[in-house]
Amino acid sequence: MARKLVLITGASSGIGEAMAREFARKGWDLALVARREDRLAALAEEMKAQNGVDSLVIAADLAKPGEPERIVSEIKKAGRQVDGLVNNAGAGQPGYFTETDWDDQERFLQLMVTAYLHLIHLVLPGMEERGFGRIINVSSVSALLPIATGHTRFSGTIYPGAKGLLIKVSQSIKAEMHGKNVHATAVCPGYTWSEFHDVNGARQSISNLPSYWMLKAEDVATAAYDAVERNVACRVPGAWYKFMVGLMRVLPDPVGEWIIANQSKRAMKKAQAQQAEA
Ligand SMILES: NC(=O)c1ccc[n+]([C@@H]2O[C@H](COP(=O)([O-])OP(=O)(O)OC[C@H]3O[C@@H](n4cnc5c(N)ncnc54)[C@H](OP(=O)(O)O)[C@@H]3O)[C@@H](O)[C@H]2O)c1
Repeated sequence: MARKLVLITGASSGIGEAMAREFARKGWDLALVARREDRLAALAEEMKAQNGVDSLVIAADLAKPGEPERIVSEIKKAGRQVDGLVNNAGAGQPGYFTETDWDDQERFLQLMVTAYLHLIHLVLPGMEERGFGRIINVSSVSALLPIATGHTRFSGTIYPGAKGLLIKVSQSIKAEMHGKNVHATAVCPGYTWSEFHDVNGARQSISNLPSYWMLKAEDVATAAYDAVERNVACRVPGAWYKFMVGLMRVLPDPVGEWIIANQSKRAMKKAQAQQAEA
């Protein structure tokens, strides 16, 4: 019997790469997508040597509208079907709303929302028909916490809302696929070691956070795999972030907003002072 295949976007680093390693360990073949083809090819080779799994390497820029269709058609051309989908590719859109061109906001929405939904729309009918599917959408704990301007300044004004949409879509798909063995999960990590904060320029302020705020990409991937197998629609990895989300649910909104705004202001001030000293 052919091994199952999972399509993973943003597999060239961070959480996506960790997802590829997790699925390969579990015996899945991989379709690896990102712009940096050399990194994907090296990962494919490593996964073949370590786990004996096969990979398709598909270089694509998911900020371009036609890419989801091309990716799925390349997989079909290779004679494979998509049994799993990890929607993960992404980057922040630094700058507050009024400072950011509309073209950049549209590009951000294409990469962080439309491409995710388009890929689900392309692969879900096949999953439903075959009676098997696993979909992981990489959301963010920022979708579940009050807004921190220290975060939106680097990741973008739309970022928490875009990630919130992924939680609701995962919940809807889980409900619509009830009893069909097609599972959908939104994994909601907090700050995670990856290239994300180098790309969006937040590395300095992130480096001031206590170590228990930082997650490892491998732990996010393990939590996501476990959650999608159990058909949990929303999973927050890590004890600290579970505590934060739980706390914010019971606190009155203004108190939660005050705590997060103050923490965010302190981190930004410290980072600015360090930058001035350097
Ligand atoms: N790190 C965190 O603290 C954190 C927290 C919560 C949620 N997240 C989410 O986790 C996901 C993965 O981020 P990460 O932390 O692993 O960051 P990362 O190490 O920077 O990885 C981002 C991945 O997305 C790919 N990517 C970026 N733009 C792309 C494009 N236009 N087309 C195709 N691929 C693209 C990158 O590959 P190429 O550059 O090779 O294209 C890379 O593989 C993102 O959706 C992010 O929002 C991250």
